[in-house]
Amino acid sequence: MTISSIPFSRVYLTGREELYMREALRTRQLSGDGPFTKRCHAWFAERFPKAEVLLTTSCTHATEMAALLLDIQPGDEVIVPSFTFSSSANPFVLRGAHIVFADIREDTFNIDETTLERFITPKTRAIVLVHYNGVGCAMESIMALAHATNIAVVEDNAHGLLGKYKGQTLGTFGTFGLQSFHETKNITCGEGGALIINDTQFVARAEILREKGTNRKSFLQGQVDKYTWVDMGSSYLPSDLLAAFLLAQLEEIDKIQAKRRAIWEFYAQQLAVWAQRSGVRLPIIPEECEQTYHIFSLILPSEAARLALQRSLKKHGITASSHYVPLHLSPMGQRFGAASCPVAEDLASRLLRLPLYAGLTEEEAEQVITLVQNTPLFAREI
Ligand SMILES: Cc1ncc(COP(=O)(O)O)c(C=O)c1O
Repeated sequence: MTISSIPFSRVYLTGREELYMREALRTRQLSGDGPFTKRCHAWFAERFPKAEVLLTTSCTHATEMAALLLDIQPGDEVIVPSFTFSSSANPFVLRGAHIVFADIREDTFNIDETTLERFITPKTRAIVLVHYNGVGCAMESIMALAHATNIAVVEDNAHGLLGKYKGQTLGTFGTFGLQSFHETKNITCGEGGALIINDTQFVARAEILREKGTNRKSFLQGQVDKYTWVDMGSSYLPSDLLAAFLLAQLEEIDKIQAKRRAIWEFYAQQLAVWAQRSGVRLPIIPEECEQTYHIFSLILPSEAARLALQRSLKKHGITASSHYVPLHLSPMGQRFGAASCPVAEDLASRLLRLPLYAGLTEEEAEQVITLVQNTPLFAREI
């Protein structure tokens, strides 16, 4: 069998990116909040009718806006799952917060909602959730706890644009939802993100923070005759060139998701018997969750088996990838003291993600499957 090189992820182009970017170039409107940003905002307004959604330069920056809007102060505590990217925690650290790491669930890799109550102190200001692979966290019990304790919920939905939990769109449960349009995400513009604001009291200040702390938006709407510095802030709005690229992707989200779904389901189907025989766990998607087909993960029987499979695939030109180093074990995470997250530690060591992108052909997926099935999983057999 000849095997071509198969990357872990590759940007899928819908065909309209260049057209829209040329249009932006022709009109010479390249700064933020231009015509294409408005069209992206209109797209979001349709899908998130009860929220205000603002494009940002990244999910990290959307999280920074959430931390600023929540007025996180030095010494405040923020609960974050250990199994996530630094960007779920860093924006709160920048405000001086103390991070409290929570463990994750065995089945979904999402924050373990049953442990949250024990982390809450009078200083807890926010709970950050990650909907891993766009599979919703247990939102009913988490929101009930948040309401009872008056703690804000921030949904890091970098993986899960338009995923649903019990029919409700991810990112619309908490005070804020966060999206990423990084190159590795289902919908991309290279670097980009969005802040979903579900509580209207934060909208006016969000517009100011995003525009360098100025009331430029009010000026553009004719509400003031000059704009000026009115609050702290930064530059969180992406160039309209990026919004042009993003719009081309957003408009094709159904097609992109259908392609990812077909590959995801092909993997699941073809690997089912092998997985059962080999003691490998395939993804578990609870019935109440509509996922986004962002990740296809295997949980191998041991770390050695994960490394063996990863190396074998690599040898044949296929890149499979582990995922987050649990944050509580990272050099920066350790500064927040010892945390006990045994599930995150165990799963992180055994998790391997197979290549998954909209442009992956069935033939390529078959190559991946064949190699996976033919690799001995026990180190001594390699
Ligand atoms: C869960 C999660 N949140 C946030 C981010 C950061 O996204 P961005 O690169 O758009 O800032 C990532 C990056 O992969 C992520 O996996």
